[in-house]
Amino acid sequence: VDLSHSNTMALTCIADYVVTLTDEAQLDTFMADYTKHTEQQKPLFVLSGGSNVLLPTQLNAIVLQPKMRGISLTAQTDRYVDIEVMAGENWHDLVVHTVSQGWYGLENLALIPGLTGAAPIQNIGAYGVQLEDHLQYVRAYHIPTQTWHQLSIADCEFGYRDSIFKRTPNTWLISRVGFRLHTDISKVLASYGDVQTVAQRYAEQQNRNKATPADVMHAIIDIRQQKLPDPKHLANCGSFFQNPIIPQEQFIALQATYPAIVGYPMPDDKIKVAAGWLIEQAGLKGGGIEPIVTHQQQALVLTNHAPYQATQEDVAIAQRYITDTIYEKFAIQLSREPVWVNTDSSIGHDEHVA
Ligand code: EPU
Repeated sequence: VDLSHSNTMALTCIADYVVTLTDEAQLDTFMADYTKHTEQQKPLFVLSGGSNVLLPTQLNAIVLQPKMRGISLTAQTDRYVDIEVMAGENWHDLVVHTVSQGWYGLENLALIPGLTGAAPIQNIGAYGVQLEDHLQYVRAYHIPTQTWHQLSIADCEFGYRDSIFKRTPNTWLISRVGFRLHTDISKVLASYGDVQTVAQRYAEQQNRNKATPADVMHAIIDIRQQKLPDPKHLANCGSFFQNPIIPQEQFIALQATYPAIVGYPMPDDKIKVAAGWLIEQAGLKGGGIEPIVTHQQQALVLTNHAPYQATQEDVAIAQRYITDTIYEKFAIQLSREPVWVNTDSSIGHDEHVA
């Protein structure tokens, strides 16, 4: 099965089998059958929207694709609503839908590609909001024990771009996500740079003096459209590197040489450095190794100029070139954000990249 159109980086990939799941019971049926055939059993791999994975040219696995749909209102008061969203719902469409219903909290996470079921895996975050801020629970299937579980926020062990699901790959298949959203129109988080200015402009156009959650959402859509490539037109997998977290002393030393370096304070005297700034400063904005190069408007994003032809190996070569250049210049080791999938569907480090 050709998966080159099922990953937003558009890497060429052929998998053995794909099983599409449109309801939870199908997974129980599939697993009952799968466990009967223990000899020559192929490994299982869960693929959601494919917007944060680097797939191998050959994937020797059975690929499970959760495509269950549906959004249901499970509780409502005058201050909040609880909703339960099936894994196959498109994330951005969900954000637009909730805001249009007057249910707020997800507006800062507009225009993030992918499906709702994958959102908890890396605790998606943007413009000061992380998924965990509005999540209540995750319903997921534990593949090794073939049992369904409801995980609380604490169970999910969320961190920056991290969760139990990301740390124990090929273990969980997320089927539903529960959110608690508020109905207070005056509660907005628009402190992040341009968001405040653009949201305020939207508000003033409507003769309001304070931005609403819808104004914030529209501002974020504008900002993201300017900076981030739409995978439909230019293959990419979003931020390719994590923003590295370095000791304060190292940051201060760098500041002496590079006064404009961008960093945000973190707990324990650490500083989170904008990797996009480091890459741009190293002269690599638009650079890389063809066909994998950084985006002109946001250097943190790697794009693929040879969709459906470029391979995972091409990505590794460009990644190594960029990380080596950054290390030589700043003594900071960048880590990759998207998930590297091996031919046997295990997750991990490719041997070419330190
Ligand atoms: N910057 C540059 N040059 C660049 C890119 C960025 O100088 O080419 C500077 C900017 O001027 C700014 C700073 O770096 O001062 C931060 O840039 P930006 O606001 O664009 O955010 P980011 O740190 O690069 C993170 C997330 C994004 C998210 C934005 C907005 C990570 C790894 N990435 O990017 O997430 O949309 O913040 O909150 O944390 C994604 O995961 O796919 C993604 C796009």
